[in-house]
Amino acid sequence: MPNAHITGWGMSVPDTILTNDDLSKMVDTNDAWIRERTGIRQRHIVRPGETASSLGLEASFKALEVANLAPTELDLIICSSSSPDYVFPATACLIQDRLGATKAGAFDILAACSGFIFAMNMAAQSIRSGAIKNALVIGTEAMSRYVNWQDRGTCILFGDGAGAFILQASETPGGVISAVMHSDGSGGDLLIIPASGSAMTPTEATVREGRHQIHMDGKEVYRFATKVMASATLEVLKKSNLSLDDIQWIVPHQANYRIIEAAARGLKLPIDRFIINLQDYGNTSTASIPIATVEAVQKGQIKPGNKIVFVGFGGGLTWGALSAEWTGPLTASSAHKIHPERYRVRARLRSIWHRIGRFIEGLIWGRGS
Ligand code: UT7
Repeated sequence: MPNAHITGWGMSVPDTILTNDDLSKMVDTNDAWIRERTGIRQRHIVRPGETASSLGLEASFKALEVANLAPTELDLIICSSSSPDYVFPATACLIQDRLGATKAGAFDILAACSGFIFAMNMAAQSIRSGAIKNALVIGTEAMSRYVNWQDRGTCILFGDGAGAFILQASETPGGVISAVMHSDGSGGDLLIIPASGSAMTPTEATVREGRHQIHMDGKEVYRFATKVMASATLEVLKKSNLSLDDIQWIVPHQANYRIIEAAARGLKLPIDRFIINLQDYGNTSTASIPIATVEAVQKGQIKPGNKIVFVGFGGGLTWGALSAEWTGPLTASSAHKIHPERYRVRARLRSIWHRIGRFIEGLIWGRGS
């Protein structure tokens, strides 16, 4: 059975930063409260024109560069997002087109902040079954587009950004070890955008009432999170035949420093075994785990051979964990073959060519007949 190695990683966040002081000019809050109750100092926010797919595309190109893998070699693209560009088409398809990943099947999944773990598990299973060799997994969010900037209970939390991993098949030991996924839809109303789908399509009235924005019962989500972070970690370790002593790092969903502290207490682990960067990005939902991982690799914290548990929770309710041995690129970087700019131009031209082809076909076969 081939192993699914994490061979590439990349992240992208918008340039625009919103600090706690900026927020205190918008709602009744202050820097001290936000830091003390969440640990967050600032978050990155999309500008007009930036979207989940544009952030996801940049993170993907970086991940492909690290893995030294051409977009045309990808078999599968899974994009996890709760703030996709559209209900459909899938954000994964928009990214597939702009990457020029010509042979990849591409689809989105939605499991809120646990989505990246669920998507990684799906991609790893596809590799381990022998069905595919190369997968791109993206977690990307433009959550600020759904934030109610008058609601101090939520607007202080969320930020925008994207992270991406490349998973590749190899017989060498390492890579994804095991995963657990859980859901409890009875808590769906605790974190919800009510007017966002077929149950309640947005209308003038729903917009007036702010039902197209994030509604959250912060206390209940907090209580749920503190319960499941430690239990999911222990569950995946058991499934992986590993103990906490075998693990160098835990990369938790970056929602609230106090939730991570509670998980550390529950696991009787020092807080410095957890990768934490929520102070700089806020809660970027499904993107938070890959963003925290990429930064930790860049800082030299996560190294080849390290065993890691990724653990998250979120709306749905959903929660899960995935264990992996960090390896790195399979191909030597001296054989560097990835030039994002060239792929970007080629993908653009190919996309235009496909559109022209469809137009000509339409003329030949008769439009609307
Ligand atoms: O990815 C999953 C996404 N969601 C989460 O992870 C959310 C989990 N929940 C949380 O992180 C926390 O519940 C919050 C950060 C949202 C809130 O923290 P808390 O410690 O649970 O605060 P609270 O709601 O109990 O509010 C405490 C006090 C209240 O005032 P009173 O009633 O004690 O006078 C609030 O009105 O703090 C007040 N408050 C604020 N004050 C200043 C609530 N939000 C703010 C604010 N600034 N932004």
